[in-house]
Amino acid sequence: MPPFDFQLRTRVVFGDGAFARLGDLARELSFTRVLIVADPGIVKIGVAERAAATLAAAGIASSVFHDFDASPDSAMVEAGRVHAAAFGIDSIVAVGGGSSLDCAKGINFVLTNGGTIRDYRGAGRASRPMLPSIGVPTTAGTGSEAQSYALISDSETHAKMACGDPKAAFRIAVLDPELTRTQPRVVAAIAGYDAISHAVESFVTVRRNEISDLFARDAWRRLERHYARALDSPEDPRARGAMLLGAHQAGIAIEQSMLGAAHACANPLTARFGMTHGIALGILLPHVVRWNSLVAGERYAALLGSPRRRSRDGDAAETLARRLEDFAVAGEIPPRLSDAGVPESALLELAGLAAQQWTGTFNPRPFDAGGALEIYRAAY
Ligand SMILES: [Fe+2]
Repeated sequence: MPPFDFQLRTRVVFGDGAFARLGDLARELSFTRVLIVADPGIVKIGVAERAAATLAAAGIASSVFHDFDASPDSAMVEAGRVHAAAFGIDSIVAVGGGSSLDCAKGINFVLTNGGTIRDYRGAGRASRPMLPSIGVPTTAGTGSEAQSYALISDSETHAKMACGDPKAAFRIAVLDPELTRTQPRVVAAIAGYDAISHAVESFVTVRRNEISDLFARDAWRRLERHYARALDSPEDPRARGAMLLGAHQAGIAIEQSMLGAAHACANPLTARFGMTHGIALGILLPHVVRWNSLVAGERYAALLGSPRRRSRDGDAAETLARRLEDFAVAGEIPPRLSDAGVPESALLELAGLAAQQWTGTFNPRPFDAGGALEIYRAAY
């Protein structure tokens, strides 16, 4: 059994209506001046305003920062730092999808420890204390609210940087399934597929352990059972709750076990062609499962569960890959890279970039540019 060092750093407050408790929770943590980090879409539908009102009712001042997009970069993080410093904050509340949560963590790094976000690439580079923060996801996707890592792009090279430190973890995650009800179907589909990919990848990495397995397996069980239902019936509270909790559990699994080749191959597609993260994963993940089957077949069988379910053709990896393709169809994710506007001539360059991704080092089958090219070609 592999050794592990496990601690849940984030308290979880789950349930319809949990968002209304934000002010009280912030007061419990002694917040007085809060930076609310909320993407423009969340501001537009009034959720940032609701957060500010809840905080105000608890006697807490706040200011909203929203000058960032779906892929927050180092320049946006710096703009957030300037905004936060001018307001004199002592705490942070992030409200939105993964971009809001990641951007908030990025701002926390540079505000409290100085320098630029590039200085925090990797793990444990912050030497000084960081501000306490609360994360409120409004999509069931990245599970960023469960992690101490922020994914921030370099504004010059567009490379995705994973910047992590235990001090960057949210003190509290507020999981309110009500908040996910209004997300457009396409957003729910893409974010949900990202969560599914986290469960599948984190279950087979070289870094996994007994604890990450618990969370990854339960996340998979919840997400696979409710993905299609949540898309077709967004009013179903059970499906919404299962997706939000499943995404969170998968986030906890990643914190322990990291990810694999699907994320390593997806990141360059986002950096080079602006492809949405969940779309890239929807195209790539089934092929990564097939590519990994040489070494991870038993693990995929364990993820699928009962022998009856995995024995469709006696090949667990193939059964899982087809199931993932079915999800991509349900999510209306294009099936191939060629359908998503990627020229075939770019595959070699993409493979070189994929091989440089840190996340690829945790893949169960040793992953390099040659392997990345095989995966891209299979998915083309
Ligand atoms: Fe992801």
